Amino acid sequence: METILNGLNPTQREAVEHIDGAMLILAGAGSGKTKTLTSRLAYLVGVVGIDPANTLTLTFTNKAAAEMRERALKLMPSKVSYPPLLCTFHKFGLLFLKFHIEKLGRSNAFVIIDSDDKKRLLRSIAKELKIDLNLSFIASEISKYKNSLLSPEIVLEKAELPDYKKIANIYARYQANIEENNLVDFDDLLMLTYRILSENNELRKETSNRYKYIMVDEYQDTNELQFQLLELLSSEHNNLCVVGDDDQSIYGWRGANIRNILEFSNHFKTCKTVKLETNYRSTDPILKAANTLIEHNSTRLGKKLRSHKGAGEAVKLLHSLDESMEAKAIAKEVQKLLDAGTHPDEIAVLYRINALSRSLEEGFTKEGVGFKLIGGMRFYERAEIKDIISYLRVLSNPNDDFSLIRIINKPKRG
Ligand SMILES: Nc1ncnc2c1ncn2[C@@H]1O[C@H](COP(=O)(O)OP(=O)(O)OP(=O)(O)O)[C@@H](O)[C@H]1O
Ligand SMILES: [Mg+2]
Repeated sequence: METILNGLNPTQREAVEHIDGAMLILAGAGSGKTKTLTSRLAYLVGVVGIDPANTLTLTFTNKAAAEMRERALKLMPSKVSYPPLLCTFHKFGLLFLKFHIEKLGRSNAFVIIDSDDKKRLLRSIAKELKIDLNLSFIASEISKYKNSLLSPEIVLEKAELPDYKKIANIYARYQANIEENNLVDFDDLLMLTYRILSENNELRKETSNRYKYIMVDEYQDTNELQFQLLELLSSEHNNLCVVGDDDQSIYGWRGANIRNILEFSNHFKTCKTVKLETNYRSTDPILKAANTLIEHNSTRLGKKLRSHKGAGEAVKLLHSLDESMEAKAIAKEVQKLLDAGTHPDEIAVLYRINALSRSLEEGFTKEGVGFKLIGGMRFYERAEIKDIISYLRVLSNPNDDFSLIRIINKPKRG
């Protein structure tokens, strides 16, 4: 399958051709991490002759999984009898539980609840127990416990501060309730899978021998539980190939454990490490600016990105007195590009956190520049902002019943 290797640079090729044993592919943004992984999957199946059913490729979002599947299948011989399993960690958990949840004495007719369902259930439990704590906080604490494999009993025993004792009580009720009703939340998909595998040695062996070649994209985003799950899955062969960028770990708040990538090669003693340092997306000046900033990260393995594209326009730095002037200047800059004939699809404005979208939205609206907001919720559509505006409306117009109904019991009274 010459074509698989042809499109790769020498280090990417080295990673693709390494078959047995643990491997860490440490790479920067846009250096072909996903390309290397999909090529490796195609190589294992198409050239080495590994049965696709013996491979497992994991990533974090359904979108990334679908994209990888498409890229890998394109590189594979068309006669592949069985499509390789390429999915998110959670989807893998779901498939596994469909076959094995009865090991926990539960039926596989379980129903998955999403985060809204979870909150609704937590709300009614909190009400019953007369606990008035922020629901998102309770939900995320319970999620943390599950991802740290802490049962309600242990949490109850360990909780010291009054609020944490309350949350432990809610957790106990919540878990009993979902088990009684045969419900499974997102965290259970991983936690129960881990429990079953760690408590059933034969099944662990069988599962590990089934998935002889395991690969993980965006490995820097894995949390402790995902690492432990990977350890069980690869326990019979250590053929675990992970791809990640220690400088792109942005999910610390969600429990992602940067140590997973920093300590991978210590954990798997015979691990091969490959670094991909050629970036195919950006020009030199952009990478220089990025490298200079990233150098200051405190926990990193260290790598330097080189641009394949070479020279390009200098990065411009815009100083503004405040956020509204900044938004105005950006909107004007965008208008200039549009006037010069640049297609809107080629212009993007990034911001660090959703809360920062407000001034940009205002600036763009004032300047009459159209925009499409992706991922965030429009500032004026956020619940708390709607609430405040309703308060102001009622103040200026006491007959505004519509606004009054929205806020009459916010914050909760009586
Ligand atoms: N050896 C190569 N030759 C030419 N183009 C390449 C090569 N490797 C990667 N690319 C191109 O670089 C771009 C980025 O590749 P890819 O998405 O695999 O990178 P990545 O490291 O996974 O990026 P991210 O950090 O966003 O996850 C793609 O357009 C890909 O086709
Ligand atoms: Mg990628």
